[in-house]
Amino acid sequence: MTDKLILSPKYKAFLRCNAPVEFLEGTTAAGKTTVGIFKFILKCAESSKKIHILSGLDLGTIEKNIINKDLGILDDFGSLVEYNAKGKGQYSLPHLILHTSKGERIIYILGYDNKARWKKALGGQYGCLYIDEINIADWKEKSIQAFTLERYAIL
Ligand SMILES: Nc1ncnc2c1ncn2[C@@H]1O[C@H](COP(=O)(O)OP(=O)(O)O)[C@@H](O)[C@H]1O
Ligand SMILES: [Mg+2]
Repeated sequence: MTDKLILSPKYKAFLRCNAPVEFLEGTTAAGKTTVGIFKFILKCAESSKKIHILSGLDLGTIEKNIINKDLGILDDFGSLVEYNAKGKGQYSLPHLILHTSKGERIIYILGYDNKARWKKALGGQYGCLYIDEINIADWKEKSIQAFTLERYAIL
């Protein structure tokens, strides 16, 4: 394991690509999550919207594979990011606060095992959406399509 984010030409091309929706496919440990979340946080910072969503199987899995891992969000962004696992203040759901030069961005952490919570989130206005391992999500409803996204999702 290395402690630095290595950006191969392919990853640099991915970071520079501007598409409204992106899907990353590859073998286990190919680097999809590592590079996907890095781009996702940059897009949240760049977005004019305040609220964004980061989703994975459940809270524990998201914490382990995305937030706390080596080259995860806290490792990559350090003091620019604050993780509130139990919610804080007016934001009662687990969330990350991203401090940017344009103000705070709130990134809700939403497990797709929790259908009730997904339903509550429907109808909101969000900037960016990241869903880890979307292939294992067993949605019956077409929840994702109901989201109003400003411009950007990595699935
Ligand atoms: N660009 C990168 N630079 C350095 N290490 C990386 C990079 N991408 C992935 N890794 C490392 O490789 C391992 C697997 O990466 P991960 O993003 O979890 O893969 P995937 O989501 O495709 O299964 C992790 O330990 C991660 O830290
Ligand atoms: Mg992954």
